[in-house]
Amino acid sequence: MTRVTKAVIPAAGLGTRFLPATKAQPKEMLPVVDKPAIQYVVEEAVAAGIDDILIITGRNKRSLEDHFDRNFELEHQLQSKGKTGDLAEVVELAELADIHFVRQGEPLGLGHAVSVARKHVGNEPFVVMLGDDIMDDHSTVLPDMIKQFDQVGSSIVALMEVPQESISAYGCAAVDQRDGALCRITGIVEKPAAEEAPSNLAVMGRYLFTPDIFAELEHVEPGVGGEIQLTDAIARVLAHDDVYGWVFAEGRYDIGKKIDYLRATVELALQREDLGPEFREFLSEVVRREGIG
Ligand code: G1P
Repeated sequence: MTRVTKAVIPAAGLGTRFLPATKAQPKEMLPVVDKPAIQYVVEEAVAAGIDDILIITGRNKRSLEDHFDRNFELEHQLQSKGKTGDLAEVVELAELADIHFVRQGEPLGLGHAVSVARKHVGNEPFVVMLGDDIMDDHSTVLPDMIKQFDQVGSSIVALMEVPQESISAYGCAAVDQRDGALCRITGIVEKPAAEEAPSNLAVMGRYLFTPDIFAELEHVEPGVGGEIQLTDAIARVLAHDDVYGWVFAEGRYDIGKKIDYLRATVELALQREDLGPEFREFLSEVVRREGIG
């Protein structure tokens, strides 16, 4: 079985749900505690054994490239001030993985962004990781999906049960043959109305694809929002091949919307060994003061 070594991270969206913060910087660079969102995603890929990462960018790509590059001026300053911890951190960041960038050109949708990766990925299985979904350090979703791929040899999509009224914000999968976390996807639809959704299983921004997704993407017509949807390409794969779902329940934080971003920041700060205890005290003080709980 081919080893999964490549990840594609689409980062070309306009981030309109996060204005004004995203007016002049990509939403992937918004910090969650003290790291830009995309760094969590890259670290998750590396922890799962992936060492080749392709970031699909749009406008404003400079800061993304700079973030994963060496910065000799900064390194020199940190060195001369004896800040060895910070120095090690910024140097390590540039050595995390082999990170490549390619431009999407036109913002035609997530499916289109993924299709731009075709040349780089070639004829290999690969993962797609969306930056709106951030996993905590304990999450095993990605390594679990890679492990399952060894068994099933078909594409796998991460799924999570969400309240029925939230399903219209996501891709939604109908499944059968559920055996623990693994199930077989029988149908998939992008952002259905709650009353028409085939299930409450939402697509969660981690996908493991066989390369035949690229051929399907070429035939996808604009769908929801007039965009080329990745979900619609998966639906096309289903016509001739199995696609599996991997259902998980924990360790995922949504940072795509302002309120969920605030939740993610609080939860991930609480989990931090260095900041957690002090932040917890601060939060209890706020709760007392505001008369919450
Ligand atoms: C995208 C996908 C959707 C998926 C979601 C997960 O939607 O199109 O299928 O459920 O990411 O975050 P977006 O959030 O970009 O609208």
